[in-house]
Amino acid sequence: MMKEIQVGLIGLGTVGSGVAKVLFDNAEVLAQRMGGKLRLKKIVDLDLDRPRPVKPPRKMLSTRVEDILGDKGIQIVVELIGGMEPARTFILAAISRGKHVVTANKALLAVHGSELFRAAAAHGVNIAFEGAVGGGIPLIRALREGLVANRIDHVYGILNGTANYILTRMTREGTTFAAALQEAQAHGFAEADPRLDVEGVDAAHKIAILSALAYCCEVDFEQVYIEGITNIDPVDIQFAADFGYRIKLLAISRCDGDRIEVRVHPTMIHRDHMLAKVEGVYNAIQISGDAVGDIMLYGLGAGMMPTGSAVASDLVDLGRNLLAGVRVRMPPLACSEEAIVRRQVKPMDELVLTYYFRFSAVDRPGVLSKIAGILGNHDISIAAVIQKGRQEKGSVPVVMMTHEARERDVRLALAEIDKLPVVTAPTRLIRVEDGERAAEGVSESLSA
Ligand code: HSE
Repeated sequence: MMKEIQVGLIGLGTVGSGVAKVLFDNAEVLAQRMGGKLRLKKIVDLDLDRPRPVKPPRKMLSTRVEDILGDKGIQIVVELIGGMEPARTFILAAISRGKHVVTANKALLAVHGSELFRAAAAHGVNIAFEGAVGGGIPLIRALREGLVANRIDHVYGILNGTANYILTRMTREGTTFAAALQEAQAHGFAEADPRLDVEGVDAAHKIAILSALAYCCEVDFEQVYIEGITNIDPVDIQFAADFGYRIKLLAISRCDGDRIEVRVHPTMIHRDHMLAKVEGVYNAIQISGDAVGDIMLYGLGAGMMPTGSAVASDLVDLGRNLLAGVRVRMPPLACSEEAIVRRQVKPMDELVLTYYFRFSAVDRPGVLSKIAGILGNHDISIAAVIQKGRQEKGSVPVVMMTHEARERDVRLALAEIDKLPVVTAPTRLIRVEDGERAAEGVSESLSA
């Protein structure tokens, strides 16, 4: 008879329903590939009456988490309720009772990952989290296994489907931010609190987790720089297009000696860059390793079935270990405990990047030279300038692209410029990825 691994699922929301559905619908293929049966024994949720795309048998359902945690037969607990508490308490309780854990809880892992991983190591169990980053894309597995031979130089990309969907709709159809967000919520890929998506926090959770894996380290989530897309004005999308660029919410992480860069912010990338072509709810992540070079992974980064597929892959992974009589084949960060270091996140002020500025200034002789003078005093060199329209009264947008400049100088220069009486609104800044190449490209596209 085929051996079975018993599974308890906490949380029957969007992703939980996807996991249950894939376990029911693809039971046969899962059993063939695992060499044993994954038996979903108990599902716990506070609301059992909500209409759902799956209809598990009533006796499988419960509102009491103890029905899973206290069941000695259940070897793997899947936590899909999200958020900090009670998810953290449930996971720690499962670990302390010797159960393996599968979670897609990026917020919890980004903030409390080290605590959970230590607890798991102390109890000889594993935590798997493929569904936490990149939805259905096997990104965690790529870093843990496929790229294990590499020193990773950088990982960056589009890690929030909702923000990418909104920016795509704003760019392609001129949809308002609010309408595009509503559509994303209707499709079910936005977070329960969509501020996590549009303010960049969700992408920051994900890049913090990827950084820990890529550089074998602990990351203090408080040090991650986060800026969302709520201030992106359609006019900036248009100016970016005029320069040959798209605006994307990028999550960026780089290894820099003992320190790392970890940041999330709207970024201008050239329209020919592969990431510029990633649209809608799709995610794409570029990873650069010293042996493999650059690779890119692309796919659906959110949604019921893609994330359900990722969670189920973890169940198979842990199930295979159990069937082989192995409790922990590989620690969660795929790095021995003694090799894990704490890395400082490089302060934003020290970064050297190229920038897009949109000034709102009165249209009068001498204004541009005042702005340019302050930039020059702060060592910021201008690569291109455009001003559209002419207004005797009121203000006009003056748009500039810079050569490489230090972020601290930029911050100080803009603070000074925004105090000028001729400047009528705070200057908008968007960072440009690809450094000098971008600035050169802009000069060329403007002179063509
Ligand atoms: N809200 C997330 C997104 C879901 O839009 O990408 C997947 O983590």
